[in-house]
Amino acid sequence: MYSETGDSGVLRVAERPVPEPGPGEVRVRVVRSGVNPTDWKARRGTLSHPEVVPDQDGAGIVDAAGPGVTGVSPGDRVWLWEAAWGRPDGTAQEYVVLPERQVVPLPDGASLDLGASLGIPALTAHRCLTVADGGPDRLAPGALDGRTVLVAGGAGAVGNAAIQLARWAGATVVATVSGPEKAALARAAGAHHVVNYRTGDPVAEIRGVAPGGADIVVEVAPAPNAALDAAVTAPQGVVAVYANNGGDEVTLPVRGLFTRNVRYQFVLVYTVPEAAKDAAVADVRAAVEAGALRVGEEAGLPLHHYPLERTADAHDAVESGVVGKVLVDVAPE
Ligand SMILES: NC(=O)c1ccc[n+]([C@@H]2O[C@H](COP(=O)([O-])OP(=O)(O)OC[C@H]3O[C@@H](n4cnc5c(N)ncnc54)[C@H](OP(=O)(O)O)[C@@H]3O)[C@@H](O)[C@H]2O)c1
Repeated sequence: MYSETGDSGVLRVAERPVPEPGPGEVRVRVVRSGVNPTDWKARRGTLSHPEVVPDQDGAGIVDAAGPGVTGVSPGDRVWLWEAAWGRPDGTAQEYVVLPERQVVPLPDGASLDLGASLGIPALTAHRCLTVADGGPDRLAPGALDGRTVLVAGGAGAVGNAAIQLARWAGATVVATVSGPEKAALARAAGAHHVVNYRTGDPVAEIRGVAPGGADIVVEVAPAPNAALDAAVTAPQGVVAVYANNGGDEVTLPVRGLFTRNVRYQFVLVYTVPEAAKDAAVADVRAAVEAGALRVGEEAGLPLHHYPLERTADAHDAVESGVVGKVLVDVAPE
């Protein structure tokens, strides 16, 4: 937890009473906490509560259910999303109490490592893939048949989830990366075509494999990629922007974009409309049940584990841009 914001040195381990679940709430014994860039950015931002336990994502075992809880029972394996959004209680602790809506069953065979990797990346990717003009607004096998999806930064955590979800939904997937190791990861995630955006002529390469252009661009770096996106987005296509990596200000070739009725959609996972968020959780749950979402190097997302007392190192790893998924081992399963 931290009671002042700043670098990872503000994080410390503290003992607190085990919380009781109220009506509609679930207490989860956390096994894994998943770390995302948002967690270190929040820790470096403005203190939201006198004490904050970091990390939005996690996975564990249901320990107690409050009155009115119907969807999960003690002993169930679950994944958690947005635990620390607007609340002081994230997942980097042994027990967390959350509204039932944020506690989602994990099927047998799906690891808690996977569960702790889903929340922010998969729900963000889902939103990006469901904001095109004319839909789809849900993901399922066939939903993106005939569509081409361009994932910028296919070796990133959100990029990895976008590739896997787009493949599950039937899209042709093109990913950009900065080098050969990341290319191997994007391919392992399921990208049909991988383009190095730093060498050669990425526009020509993308047009070469997707002559009609990309119907959906999942964009992590809208400023440096503005010209590329404008050159490869299909008529009526959408550029779904979920980050500002590489710069905050975007210059767009307006005429070329309006001529093709291209849409720019900005995405912040926390403020996605409630119905869209519920749909995303349901679809991600279905993708997990279908075995379509995986983690580990063989799925393009190497895992990096840290014990709870080294949560600061876990945060630093994410802040320094480690490739893959950083997980905190809170307790044994
Ligand atoms: N809006 C939201 O709701 C939301 C949700 C999740 C994450 N985010 C934000 O999204 C960003 C990424 O998060 P993450 O967890 O996926 O991080 P990550 O695992 O570190 O991935 C970031 C990826 O971006 C790639 N990248 C950077 N510049 C690029 C460029 N010009 N073209 C193509 N790829 C580029 C990097 O690849 P190279 O190093 O090879 O370039 C890297 O693979 C962070 O800023 C995070 O805060 C926002």
